[in-house]
Amino acid sequence: MTATELRAPAPSDATSGPRLIDLTLHVWRQDGPSDRGRMVTIDAPGISTEMSLLEMLDVVNERLTIGGEEPIAFEHDCREGICGSCGMMVNGIAHGPLRATTACQLHMRAFHDGQELWIEPWRAEPFPVIKDLVVDRSAFDRIIQAGGYITAPTGTAPDANSLPVPKADADAAFEAANCIGCGACVAACPNASAMLFTAAKVTHLGMLPQGRAEREARVMSMVATHDDLGFGSCTNIGECSAACPKEIPLETIARLNADLWRAARRRRSRPRRQRG
Ligand code: SF4
Ligand code: FES
Repeated sequence: MTATELRAPAPSDATSGPRLIDLTLHVWRQDGPSDRGRMVTIDAPGISTEMSLLEMLDVVNERLTIGGEEPIAFEHDCREGICGSCGMMVNGIAHGPLRATTACQLHMRAFHDGQELWIEPWRAEPFPVIKDLVVDRSAFDRIIQAGGYITAPTGTAPDANSLPVPKADADAAFEAANCIGCGACVAACPNASAMLFTAAKVTHLGMLPQGRAEREARVMSMVATHDDLGFGSCTNIGECSAACPKEIPLETIARLNADLWRAARRRRSRPRRQRG
């Protein structure tokens, strides 16, 4: 069964009122990058269905701390689906079972009393585990550094609307700009490809006139950096888009490929500079 089939829309019984449920957690514990790591079973009774997954982990951590045990390390910041830092696998699905929902926005009403949850970090070589559920996603920063910028003219700000942008281009750029850099696409992909992330960055800059000056150099450099960092190739499986909490469509990768082919062809046909 694929992630697309496993992922469900938000439950319709969300208005049925809060309940307390008992859960059994199997959590990945790893002391540091060089530790082998192991699954640890933790009982989590009396969890409110109104809590988010991260709030449930807060409660579990408080209980662990009171009991003299090390709390579970997990990454978070905004807790409202914006920053992309909270990614984790829940029962084998990136960000858990709800479609278009980050782990921080996943509520415990998505689970039932007595359920067992397997909570693990992203599994991909370019995202090494730092501790427990926290992985190092700085490989994404290096892809951004390779071309995720535009050349901005100095001086006063241009007049509003002086640069017309076709509606379809603006919509495509805006849709791609929704990417929050969470890494779920990589974790869900059997090839650990970051092509959906890279395509989102290439698209949101390249579709707008302000980002066209570097369009060819950008796609070449970002894809080369993606490959150098050890991310796998895209084979159009589509798990990335199914796992993406911002529903970045697979067509974004097709757009990247078109840009890449155009840039590679033009570079090959460009006349060599004369020597001497
Ligand atoms: S493309 Fe989607 S899954 Fe991948 S990093 Fe961006 S928001 Fe996360
Ligand atoms: S904590 Fe920011 S997206 Fe989840």
